[in-house]
Amino acid sequence: MTLVGKQIVLIIAGGIAAYKSLDLIRRLRDQGAVVQPVLTRAGAQFVTPLSVAALSGQKVHEDLFSLTDDTGMGHIHLSRAADLLVVAPATADLMAKMAHGLADDLASALLLASDKPILLAPSMNLMMWNHPATQANLACLRSRGVAQVGPASGDLACGETGDGRMAEVADILAAIETHCGVSQVLAGVRALVTSGPTFEPIDPVRYIANRSSGKQGHAIAQALRQLGAAVTLISGPVGLADPPGMQVIKVETAAEMLAAAQAALPVEVAVCAAAVADWRVTEPAREKTKKREDGVAPTLSLCANPDILANLAAKGPLRPRLVVGFAAETEGLIANAKAKLARKGCDLIVANDVSPALGTFAGDDNRVHLIDGQGVEEWPSMSKIEVANRLARLIAQRLTSGA
Ligand code: C5P
Repeated sequence: MTLVGKQIVLIIAGGIAAYKSLDLIRRLRDQGAVVQPVLTRAGAQFVTPLSVAALSGQKVHEDLFSLTDDTGMGHIHLSRAADLLVVAPATADLMAKMAHGLADDLASALLLASDKPILLAPSMNLMMWNHPATQANLACLRSRGVAQVGPASGDLACGETGDGRMAEVADILAAIETHCGVSQVLAGVRALVTSGPTFEPIDPVRYIANRSSGKQGHAIAQALRQLGAAVTLISGPVGLADPPGMQVIKVETAAEMLAAAQAALPVEVAVCAAAVADWRVTEPAREKTKKREDGVAPTLSLCANPDILANLAAKGPLRPRLVVGFAAETEGLIANAKAKLARKGCDLIVANDVSPALGTFAGDDNRVHLIDGQGVEEWPSMSKIEVANRLARLIAQRLTSGA
């Protein structure tokens, strides 16, 4: 009963996956939540108000103007007591309305008139999902803090195969628990996360860097925090706000990152998501290196940086119980990641393809494979936040099962 006393407004829009939302209502109530269902006109073509009312035990809110029976401001009041607004299935149409601030029915008016956290479970045809309009709307909603679970990849109701299938009910439920902050399975657990690039100075002005945005690492720190962990986030230079509720240590170089990581020990779990520079300039110049008149460029002498992941994963009394590394590859993803798992001595590698065409470094989405001693698990493309939430839940499972 993880959701006792929680009020969830569940908006069911018009998608074939609406039938799964009936099961979601049942599962939410099993966990003690009160579900206030809202059915859009299209949603009512897929599931009946009677089924929704019977399963939720609540009045089904369907029409903007039928809510005028008390104060005439039903759409304003409906979300006030809510802990979370869940849209499942979230259609391309409803997401477009949200992105543009339209409010021509109860669901869209409610979403616009609410200051509560919102979780979307998108569900649609592959082409609709991949359409630049949908992706732009989604990016806009994410930038406003709207959370997302799914979609999954697989066979779609339209007969096509690909991204667009609504996330499984268990995953939506887990995301709801995370967003309600009730799932404190990592309370008392200390976690260390490295994130972002490192900058290695050439002289006081110039440096060697890489394209890491820190989005994935920061999201992991936040996901672990949401599950109750005490998190130390060690971040290279990124353009992201510090996630709340944790210690954030800002560093520039790999050497500083290693020192900060060692100082943060002991921890139960370490996640090395930072894109640490493999090399640094052996002796950075004290003054800005001048351009030569003859046009000859300077030669940089490089030496290897310490490997923070290998360092943390090395056997010893301070080794965290779980050490997770990342493998950013542009080719041979799985083979390279497997080799890395063995070479670095960590327990789990999250492998992602960072080929420029996929836009992983700067983007909000990630498609990862998880590699450990047992084998390879492929996760569908999802937001970096969702990768983080899933990974945090997996970490919690591993730590609590003692594996
Ligand atoms: O060897 P490679 O850089 O591809 O390994 C990637 C993994 O190792 C990531 O988890 C990264 O954070 C970690 N790493 C590190 N210190 C380094 C290089 C990589 O912690 N110097």
